[in-house]
Amino acid sequence: MTVTIVGAQLGDEGKGGIVDLFGEPADVVARYQGGDNAGHTVVHEGTEYKLSLIPSGVVRGKIGVLGNGCVVNPRTLFDELDALGERGLEPDVRVARRAHIIFPYHRVLDGIEEDVKSESDQEVGTTGRGIGPTYEDKMGRRGIRAGDLANPEALREQLEYTVPQKRALAEQVYGVSVGEEFDIDALYEEYREYGERLESEGMLVEAGNFLAARLDAGENIVFEGAQGTMIDIDHGNYPYVTSSNPTAGGAAPGTGLSPRVVGDGDVVGIVKAYLSRVGSGPMPTELAGVEGDTPGYEGDADPDDEELAEYIRDAGGEYGTVTGRPRRVGWLDMPILRHATRASGFTGLAVNHIDTLAGLDELFVGHAYEVDGEERLTVPATTERWANCEPVFKEFDPWPEADWNAVASEGYEALPENARTYLEYISDELGVPIYAVGIGPGRDESIVLEHPFE
Ligand code: IMO
Ligand code: MG
Repeated sequence: MTVTIVGAQLGDEGKGGIVDLFGEPADVVARYQGGDNAGHTVVHEGTEYKLSLIPSGVVRGKIGVLGNGCVVNPRTLFDELDALGERGLEPDVRVARRAHIIFPYHRVLDGIEEDVKSESDQEVGTTGRGIGPTYEDKMGRRGIRAGDLANPEALREQLEYTVPQKRALAEQVYGVSVGEEFDIDALYEEYREYGERLESEGMLVEAGNFLAARLDAGENIVFEGAQGTMIDIDHGNYPYVTSSNPTAGGAAPGTGLSPRVVGDGDVVGIVKAYLSRVGSGPMPTELAGVEGDTPGYEGDADPDDEELAEYIRDAGGEYGTVTGRPRRVGWLDMPILRHATRASGFTGLAVNHIDTLAGLDELFVGHAYEVDGEERLTVPATTERWANCEPVFKEFDPWPEADWNAVASEGYEALPENARTYLEYISDELGVPIYAVGIGPGRDESIVLEHPFE
């Protein structure tokens, strides 16, 4: 059986914690897209693990697979593996031979393009991890894959084809002089060694076959989505997106299993009880703003909104796991969730951060949008039109702080009544049952209403 975990909003919905919660009966946790742009936090026995590439289930002894749809930075991979090893874990991670490799020049080019775009305020606010340039090379049929690292001749040949192009792009198109990130010999030596290590440690797999064999043997697999629906390359807010498909459809091509396998299992949408966004792009329900990220924002918000945004940011720990920068925050946006539910076909929802909203003086949800004098319930396809949407708010009665440990042990009925009303509104609007409610970062700080593997 499979369970696919998908971010329903803009990333950072708390997917790592839910993978951890629902992943207990799983044998394998496989990522199907993205790379070390993700930031997944898992708290295990009081220790916090921050992972950007390795599937979070690995912390609990599951086999982690980086599927062919991922882009893998071997430096990050081995840094994370070594760090887990130093903390006494024995991580078992497999990498698809078909997964594309992030090279240092991809990161440099990511930065250069963002710099150039920023001159006309068009930067995406990427994580700078080289994600976009690596997927570009994949689609351009000039990428280098994990399997190639273990084949020195193929690696050398491909570097000799690709690197001069990248150098010319940096130097001749962008006028930036580059260094060892574009040095074929240095790259060859370093990446050949990664290939040796991947091979000698038995980490390289034909992921589709590997996963299919596990399923045939009756094992459970979690497909761990990174990022979120509104930063999906197809269904997100283009061009302020990442370069892969975090929506559930991505789990099939990104693992080598069929859409029937994914669709036969549960697809759980992970929802943050409010909204956060890293980087640029519209956010109709945003409170105040973050300079440099919120389009046109210069610190000129209503002081009450500013205070509320700061309160939520601090209470929810809304600072990037990868980059440390403050996240933009706002009220829950239902058009986003309707869009996500349609695109991924959620069978259940996990709503996180119900505790973060406790004790507010006022509470709103963006129920719909108003644009060009009309009300609409879903997200428009163009950035310009989305940016013109004004939220139509629905007010809810806030709930008070609670003894969340007690709530966690007593279950759903112990939640403050107003929190249950809020949750039931979300579930009714989307026509999807709630599987879990998050009331804190730890695995024990969740209420499970329905466990997809049980
Ligand atoms: P997790 O898995 C939130 C955002 C970046 C930027 C855009 C493109 O922790 O939810 P990229 O480096 O991917 O080319 O950046 O996507 N972004 C995320 N935002 N959570 C993430 O991952 C993100 N990964 C990328 O901020 O706006
Ligand atoms: Mg994150």
